[in-house]
Amino acid sequence: MPRIAYVNGRYIAHADAAVHIEDRGYQFADGVYEVCEVARGFIVDMPRHLARLNRSLTELSIDWPVTKGVLPLLLREVVRRNHVVNGLVYVQVTRGVASRDFAFPADTLSSLVITARKADPAAGAKRAETGIAVITVPENRWDRVDIKSTGLLPNVLAKQKAKEAGAQEAWFVDTDGNVKEGGSSNAWIVTREGVLVTRPAEHGILRGITRTTMFEVAASLGLKIEERGFSVAEAKAAREAFISSATTIAMPVVAIDGNPVANGHPGSITLSLRQAFFDIAEKSPA
Ligand code: PDD
Repeated sequence: MPRIAYVNGRYIAHADAAVHIEDRGYQFADGVYEVCEVARGFIVDMPRHLARLNRSLTELSIDWPVTKGVLPLLLREVVRRNHVVNGLVYVQVTRGVASRDFAFPADTLSSLVITARKADPAAGAKRAETGIAVITVPENRWDRVDIKSTGLLPNVLAKQKAKEAGAQEAWFVDTDGNVKEGGSSNAWIVTREGVLVTRPAEHGILRGITRTTMFEVAASLGLKIEERGFSVAEAKAAREAFISSATTIAMPVVAIDGNPVANGHPGSITLSLRQAFFDIAEKSPA
């Protein structure tokens, strides 16, 4: 079954899908994106993802590529044409194609690309049984990581470093020694008292949609959340640690820089959050 991509108004075979060489996304990373989980035939938390896309576009003064109401229909159509029941749908908007000049071009239409990909939910479940390892790296990204920009080179380098160290994620650490977030996920710990701790999202991290929904999941399980910074040392000594993102949901972290978190096994609170997530998240039929 060939994969289909949506590119600027057309559905094209994935293998042939392309944008112009002077697309500003390609030249300047002048664009933004969203990744939504598709689970059991539903797009998870789509309204929240589209609201964040709107925020990213607004912050960068990039025009909507289509009428706002049309985008959910396009996401659904790409998911449907690719027969994705479990996987993800990716949407990217750039400032469009223009002759290379740093300042914004006049009268350029934004570019819109949507792709969808299948994923095996059993693989995520299996990974959650063992948990993942993370490394820590110094924060070296720009100040506006609250915008979901396609400019991800520091994230690429950090995650490559993690991979070379046999780990699955890299946590950016600020100059005070506090954990910010992962290369493509938010970071959490669970204290000895069973309280969830995650860094405030007002500044310096991406306000993850999974993170936002996790507040509701935690409430449904009667768990308390504290939004505050936590240090690498506190994380290493925590009862549990985990990451959250649309592609991982709650994924246990069992080692940090080679040191085990607690007994080095996934924590029960993380696994219960993971279990309850789908029931609480908003499910738009795909
Ligand atoms: N990344 N922080 C960063 C830097 C991210 O790139 C992501 C998501 C998150 C979690 O956000 P959410 O819960 O909305 O997925 C936090 C996506 C999955 C990616 O780039 O593939």
